[in-house]
Amino acid sequence: MGSERKVDIEKVKEELEKLREEIRKHDYLYYVKGEPIISDYEYDQLYRRLLELEKQYPELVTPDSPSQRVGGAPLEGFETVPHNPPMLSLDNAYDEEEVKAWETRIRKALGRKVEFMAEAKIDGVAISLEYEDGLFVRGSTRGDGYTGDDITANLKTIRDIPLRLNNAPRGHLEVRGEVYMTREDLSRLNKKREAEGQPLFANPRNAAAGTLKLLDPKEVAKRHLHAWLYYIITKIPGIDTQEKALEALEKWGFQVNPQRRLCRNLDELFKFYREVEASRENLPYNIDGLVVKVNDLKAQEILGATAKAPRWAIAFKFKAEQATTVVESLEWSVGRAGSITPVANLRPVLLAGTTVKRAGLFNPERVAELDVREGDTVIVEKAGDIIPYIREVNYALRPPGTKPAKPPTKCPACGSPLVKEEGIVGLFCRNWECPVQVRGRLELWASRGAMDIEGLGEKVAAVLYREIGVRDPGDLYFLKPGCLAHLRGFGELSESNLLKAIEKSKDRGLSRVLYGLGIPNVGSETAALLASHFGSIDKLMAASKDEIDEIPGIGEKVAHEVYNFFRRKEVKNLIAKLKKAGVKMEEVAREVVGPWTGLTFVITGTLPSMSREEAHEAIRARGGKPMDSVSSKTSYLVVGENPGSKLAKAEKLGIKIITAAQFEAMLAETPPAK
Ligand code: IVH
Repeated sequence: MGSERKVDIEKVKEELEKLREEIRKHDYLYYVKGEPIISDYEYDQLYRRLLELEKQYPELVTPDSPSQRVGGAPLEGFETVPHNPPMLSLDNAYDEEEVKAWETRIRKALGRKVEFMAEAKIDGVAISLEYEDGLFVRGSTRGDGYTGDDITANLKTIRDIPLRLNNAPRGHLEVRGEVYMTREDLSRLNKKREAEGQPLFANPRNAAAGTLKLLDPKEVAKRHLHAWLYYIITKIPGIDTQEKALEALEKWGFQVNPQRRLCRNLDELFKFYREVEASRENLPYNIDGLVVKVNDLKAQEILGATAKAPRWAIAFKFKAEQATTVVESLEWSVGRAGSITPVANLRPVLLAGTTVKRAGLFNPERVAELDVREGDTVIVEKAGDIIPYIREVNYALRPPGTKPAKPPTKCPACGSPLVKEEGIVGLFCRNWECPVQVRGRLELWASRGAMDIEGLGEKVAAVLYREIGVRDPGDLYFLKPGCLAHLRGFGELSESNLLKAIEKSKDRGLSRVLYGLGIPNVGSETAALLASHFGSIDKLMAASKDEIDEIPGIGEKVAHEVYNFFRRKEVKNLIAKLKKAGVKMEEVAREVVGPWTGLTFVITGTLPSMSREEAHEAIRARGGKPMDSVSSKTSYLVVGENPGSKLAKAEKLGIKIITAAQFEAMLAETPPAK
């Protein structure tokens, strides 16, 4: 009996090995070469047989089996992986002069001229891969550069990443590279998301980053990510240049960027730069420059790195991408806080990998300043390839008979007359009961950073407004059991859950109350400043404009807004209701002195590796001050994904702008105060 089974197993093992070999070969021909030699049907037959056998003999499943790419069970969360050496970022050069200066520094440091390996800089997400005796064992994200997330299961679904290497060195091997998504795959993904009512990804990089963070590898497998490797961390005898490193990576079975060239001098480098720049639009993926590296690895070692970036490499960036298109219409919408926001609807145009249909115009003043009109031909640009905005209007191409854009005089949502306020940019609807504002106010009040009322989102806010006449957050605390249960979409259970969540929110404290009130220009940070300065809502409401203005970190404009907000009778009414309901509106003060004391930070957009709250916490822990809006006092603007109008404002004021990655590098370099 036993020996029969043994014979069996040996045979099965043999068949499995053959099948895997065969499938690997066809995977390579199909995915990498793009030249399959068997039909999909034949391939499916092979694959099915493999799955069948592996199901029957689970003990014979190997980690490098092609079946392991389909994605295992969903994960609870990611383990962390330390990076040694850290995964640094790169210094940027924006023109030839800056590259020359870099070359001069290198020549001086080494006392000789060097050759450069120039590679297209793919706009993706950095990864690290580890192999043991040629088998893929672990892959991770960059994280903060020092520790990343273990995303092995997700990376296994990427066909470009070999699960087993050809003739790779024995023992441990670490390589680094970039995961990316093609523009075509992104637009397919976005179409699907649009149909499903999910938010769209702004660009392929965000999509790749978002995909690698999914906890369900099966979902990752559906998104067709790709990977390029460009860096061998482990020292390998015989590999003494970057050129040889790339060749070795290729030979082991990795995908290596074909757009690369060994340049003997700067002239050759600049020529290559122009060639690649000219071809970038024809590539199926986004590149945003060249990475230029000292070819000789010994020289790299001598040059070393700063805390942020290696001295032996530089990112030679392409100019911001621009596109010309036509403004089809101007639209004015009303925001949660009542401000009127103009948006240009554009004739769709391809820009930096995405189709752009709309460009934000921030406020009516900006529209007037640009004198942008319907029918105008405009140049749109993406700031750091992120949000499109109108760079300039080509007045020469303006069709005859156009008139300057006129901001509305009445609120597009409720029809109330709009008001312009002294000293404040923008146009506002001040109708407290404007439906957009009421719903927005409820949503903000219930949001995570404010009172965190689970179950109260956009839909429920709309129902509360429409069906029960809730007009402000104060009304929430007077809802009676039974008032919701009969409504569509509600039942007794959801009603009781919501009422419980509302009750629970009473103890969040003053700073979250102030944020949740939606005072114009007061985000969570300003709210925290006000709360710790005044300690109670009564003291804040009794304060003069000057007293508010004197708080470090609060500007005149914000002081004005805060002061005016609490003069409104609707607000006084609301606060009285909240008090009556027993909502806690007091706070205790706290302050940290540390390496960043005196520095103020503003964050715009989403940071890839931490929430806004976490980033604020990290800044405070170092003695710095996180702020909500950019002013001349801002030390740094940190730009994440999908940044807002703060970016343009910071550019205008000449504030130092840093990327999320640079911010993370700064955090890594600066430990929090004790
Ligand atoms: S070398 C020590 N080569 O660009 C850093 N990076 O903006 C070594 N990148 O963090 C990086 N293509 O994620 C290198 N051919 C290439 C690259 C590349 C894209 C990314 C990488 C890096 C980022 C810096």
